[in-house]
Amino acid sequence: MENTEKIKEEALNKLATIKTERELADFKTAVLGRSGTITMLMKGLKDVPPEDRPRVGKEINDVRVAVTEACDGLEKKLHRQAIEHALISDAIDVTIDKPVRSVGAVHPLNQVRKRLTDYFVGNGYIVYDSPEIETDYYNFQALNIPLDHPARDMQDTFFIEDGILLRSQTSSGQVRLMEKVKPPLKMICPGRVFRNDDDSTHSPVFHQMEGLVVDKNVTLCDLKGALEGFAKFIFGDQTKIRFRPSYFPFTEPSVEVDVSCFKCGGKGCRVCKNTGWIEILGAGMVNRKVLENCGIDPDEYQGFAFGLGLDRITMIQCGIDDIKMLWENDVRFLRMFR
Ligand code: DAH
Repeated sequence: MENTEKIKEEALNKLATIKTERELADFKTAVLGRSGTITMLMKGLKDVPPEDRPRVGKEINDVRVAVTEACDGLEKKLHRQAIEHALISDAIDVTIDKPVRSVGAVHPLNQVRKRLTDYFVGNGYIVYDSPEIETDYYNFQALNIPLDHPARDMQDTFFIEDGILLRSQTSSGQVRLMEKVKPPLKMICPGRVFRNDDDSTHSPVFHQMEGLVVDKNVTLCDLKGALEGFAKFIFGDQTKIRFRPSYFPFTEPSVEVDVSCFKCGGKGCRVCKNTGWIEILGAGMVNRKVLENCGIDPDEYQGFAFGLGLDRITMIQCGIDDIKMLWENDVRFLRMFR
């Protein structure tokens, strides 16, 4: 009996010093395990005189129960402590100062192209992709610019070989589409064009977006309505447009289109060079000859067309004077339009 009391006391004292789950597991093996001290006491019962066995057995069992309960209690406590410790030591400091990873952005030119495309697609236009390497026929002749026509001088063209060139205008897309698709049709043709020009507002490679609508009873009023809607969408609801007479071989009549300055509202400022107006595109009614060249009867169908410079609109919107900024890919510049 003395023995059991002593063992219980020792066990509980030892338990009080245990600090980790590992130590506790070792302790349980040493005391309650298969050859642990209490288990051995149980095994020793057989040497106790039979009349004392029930009493001694009960005492040993009471010790076993007491020690087991104490172990369970401590186990729970240590486990909770271990979790709390892990939570603290594994915590990530989200406030720490780290170098910021920079995020990419859509190039301003592509932002403008996408916005314009969204507008026209929303108004029922299809997007047509036309080749950059083009024949003289599609780039000029079919557009009513014969081989020796002075209008060729308006576009200093890169010729690759006889009759093959880098397209100088997306207007070539008009002809290619009209040859394939019967009217009514509405399309835009955005893409790169090439000319032997190089100064602060001209680059040998630049971007245009051609527009074409062919249907019965199309008039200059329809053109004006279409361009007014577009101008308001891009430059704001207050925007007005005006037509000035002009000349393009592929349209008759032809117009140059200005929008009221989005910056000063028409009063005159640096953006509009104090005129109150900004020239943004060329347009007109599709010349009968062009329709005929594409196998469309001009007495049955009429069309309007327009061509705008994406680089120019981007430059106006970004407020930059040098077209090279669109090419240099200086991230400091591009970041400004994120
Ligand atoms: N292709 C002309 C150019 O590059 C722009 C243009 C003017 C396109 C009038 C048109 C148009 O479709 O009708 O200068």
